[in-house]
Amino acid sequence: MEDEVSSNEPTSDDGPNARMVRYWNSSATAPWVTLQDRLDALLGPAGDAAIREANPKSAEHVLDVGCGCGGSTLEFARLVGKLGHVTGVDISDQMLARARERVVEKGFAQVTLAVADAGSFAFEPAGFDHIYSRLGIMFFGAPVAAFDNLRSALKTSGRMTFLCCRTAAENTYISTAVQAARPLLPNDAVPIPGPDEPGMFSLANPSRVQDILGRAGFRQIELRRHDERMRLGGPGEAIEAANFSLQFGPLTRVLNDLKPAAREALISAVANAYRQIDGPEGIVLQGAFWIVTARP
Ligand SMILES: C[S@@+](CC[C@H](N)C(=O)[O-])C[C@H]1O[C@@H](n2cnc3c(N)ncnc32)[C@H](O)[C@@H]1O
Repeated sequence: MEDEVSSNEPTSDDGPNARMVRYWNSSATAPWVTLQDRLDALLGPAGDAAIREANPKSAEHVLDVGCGCGGSTLEFARLVGKLGHVTGVDISDQMLARARERVVEKGFAQVTLAVADAGSFAFEPAGFDHIYSRLGIMFFGAPVAAFDNLRSALKTSGRMTFLCCRTAAENTYISTAVQAARPLLPNDAVPIPGPDEPGMFSLANPSRVQDILGRAGFRQIELRRHDERMRLGGPGEAIEAANFSLQFGPLTRVLNDLKPAAREALISAVANAYRQIDGPEGIVLQGAFWIVTARP
């Protein structure tokens, strides 16, 4: 695999995304690598709906922003074929290492992966037909500048398509665990980011998305609601589902710092909440997303 963008672009220690660089390279997010199969199964259907919206064609060039362990990158590589090209960028060394392994396993020569901050990386101007992201685009500390940077990487005929979360309240596959855990934790243990701060729900407000993308120079900005049933575990698997969800949601940071007894109590509280909704299909909660499209 050739690395024409950069194989190891230093990610800024003090730029607007410094906190996120630390977070996505920390032990709190290591489960995104170890649980890659399960997270792809969970997030894949919503991500695939956004890929269908992007509708990439053979021989096109795609930039996958915040590609993580590469699930969507591999799918784009299949769709654009050997004549096309997919560039996956991410600030997380650990997740990109897993993506690299998977690209090699598939033998996809049409993929380039780079450790890079998509908000500031000097992409080839007008180099891409598509910019895409599956939940990797909500973490910019300076979002207007970041999206402006991405816009300049699109051909004039190109299009950006991304999947982002609607509100925490609508995304019960994340919020149910947080609500169950809160009574056991100090008030400030799970800080709620402000509406303008980077994080999973930073693009939940459609007016904010329109404002940011508009100020970044995008036009024809459209948001379409996409709901998905998120299955965290099978029938009777409340404990397993609690263990799973606690490793990728906002409670991960908290969990790592707890003593074993407190950790068990937290898992048990979340499992109890899941038992209330356990049904014939198991523990199925709501995923609420926007599929956003825009042109440069
Ligand atoms: C919620 S994860 C999603 C990962 C992957 N797209 C998936 O769906 O499995 C968010 C990803 O965005 C990446 N990310 C956050 N800020 C970024 C930035 N400024 N530039 C590139 N990647 C970023 C993180 O490192 C992480 O891999």
